[in-house]
Amino acid sequence: MMEHSRTIRNPVLLKFLHGFFLLVLCMMSTSSESAAFPSHTLLGNESDRLALLDLKKRITEDPLSVMSSWNHSVHFCSWVGITCHSATQRVLILDLEDKQLAGSIPPSIGNLTRLIEISLGINEFHGEIPQELGRLRTLESLNLSFNSFGGKIPTNMSHCTQLRVFDLLSNKIIGSIPRQLSSWLSLTLLKLGENNLSGTIPGWIGNFSSLRGLGLAHNNFQGSIPNELGHITTLQKFLVGGNNLSED
Ligand SMILES: *[C@@H]1O[C@H](CO)[C@@H](O)[C@H](O)[C@H]1NC(C)=O
Ligand SMILES: *[C@@H]1O[C@H](CO)[C@@H](O)[C@H](O)[C@H]1NC(C)=O
Ligand SMILES: *[C@@H]1O[C@H](CO)[C@@H](O)[C@H](O)[C@H]1NC(C)=O
Ligand SMILES: *[C@@H]1O[C@H](CO)[C@@H](O)[C@H](O)[C@H]1NC(C)=O
Ligand SMILES: *[C@@H]1O[C@H](CO)[C@@H](O)[C@H](O)[C@H]1NC(C)=O
Ligand SMILES: *[C@@H]1O[C@H](CO)[C@@H](O)[C@H](O)[C@H]1NC(C)=O
Ligand SMILES: *[C@@H]1O[C@H](CO)[C@@H](O)[C@H](O)[C@H]1NC(C)=O
Ligand SMILES: *[C@@H]1O[C@H](CO)[C@@H](O)[C@H](O)[C@H]1NC(C)=O
Repeated sequence: MMEHSRTIRNPVLLKFLHGFFLLVLCMMSTSSESAAFPSHTLLGNESDRLALLDLKKRITEDPLSVMSSWNHSVHFCSWVGITCHSATQRVLILDLEDKQLAGSIPPSIGNLTRLIEISLGINEFHGEIPQELGRLRTLESLNLSFNSFGGKIPTNMSHCTQLRVFDLLSNKIIGSIPRQLSSWLSLTLLKLGENNLSGTIPGWIGNFSSLRGLGLAHNNFQGSIPNELGHITTLQKFLVGGNNLSED
């Protein structure tokens, strides 16, 4: 005890201790700061944030600087185009419609497991639509219209059984309408016009008993219009011109 009080009067040691205390204080304030502003780690889901940052990384053109708001000084729930659930702070809506963006959708979009709506219409997105969208079990609306998406319709989206709107109007999608999508029994709008889809129009679309709009025009469909489509009493709009269908 005595020895302690004596050594502390040593000015060099005092200075050292002072510095040490400052260092400890500094470390404490850093940790208390992250506790006071936990926005980046504790609120919401870290994988949501990482998935959004991954999407930002895939944006190659952004003349309106829309993505500059997706930065570390703001919680991702406040980023342009993002709507979160107020209690869980999980991303519900990703809406970057008509923002002059070019880029692609990374597979990590499948980590945004609470998404109910994706709207990327009227941009210049390209590349394939990732199979990982099948992980979005609560997705109700996917709108990728007026872009340059290529490849096939991902079969794994059969798991998105809550889907109501599937709008790929005016892209470069190839292949046929996959049989797996017959699980989309809640569908109200299926818009596939102005792509390069081929094969026949599946009869099981007739099982979509809430379907209001079916757009298949300007593709490469063959065969005839299936009679089953006549079963859909809710159907108000059916566009099928500009294909290679037989008359019967
Ligand atoms: C981060 O985003 C906010 C708006 O969300 C913006 O005001 C700010 O300038 C941005 N910071 C940087 C470094 O871009
Ligand atoms: C997100 O998804 C990617 C690709 O699907 C996966 O490899 C990665 O581990 C996931 N990241 C996080 C943080 O969950
Ligand atoms: C965060 O998201 C990941 C990937 O989607 C999921 O596996 C995990 O359970 C989520 N965590 C919380 C706390 O919601
Ligand atoms: C999809 O997005 C386009 C363009 O952003 C919009 O015009 C269209 O109405 C949307 N489709 C649906 C079914 O809401
Ligand atoms: C396909 O969807 C299932 C069910 O949601 C999911 O478990 C699986 O990871 C998805 N596959 C890919 C390649 O993302
Ligand atoms: C559409 O696909 C067919 C092959 O299925 C191909 O021959 C044709 O060139 C494609 N058309 C366009 C406009 O991409
Ligand atoms: C469509 O519905 C009919 C009658 O309920 C059923 O027999 C048939 O298997 C269904 N088709 C598909 C592909 O689900
Ligand atoms: C249209 O279909 C017929 C018969 O299925 C086929 O002979 C013809 O080549 C097709 N035309 C085009 C432009 O695909």
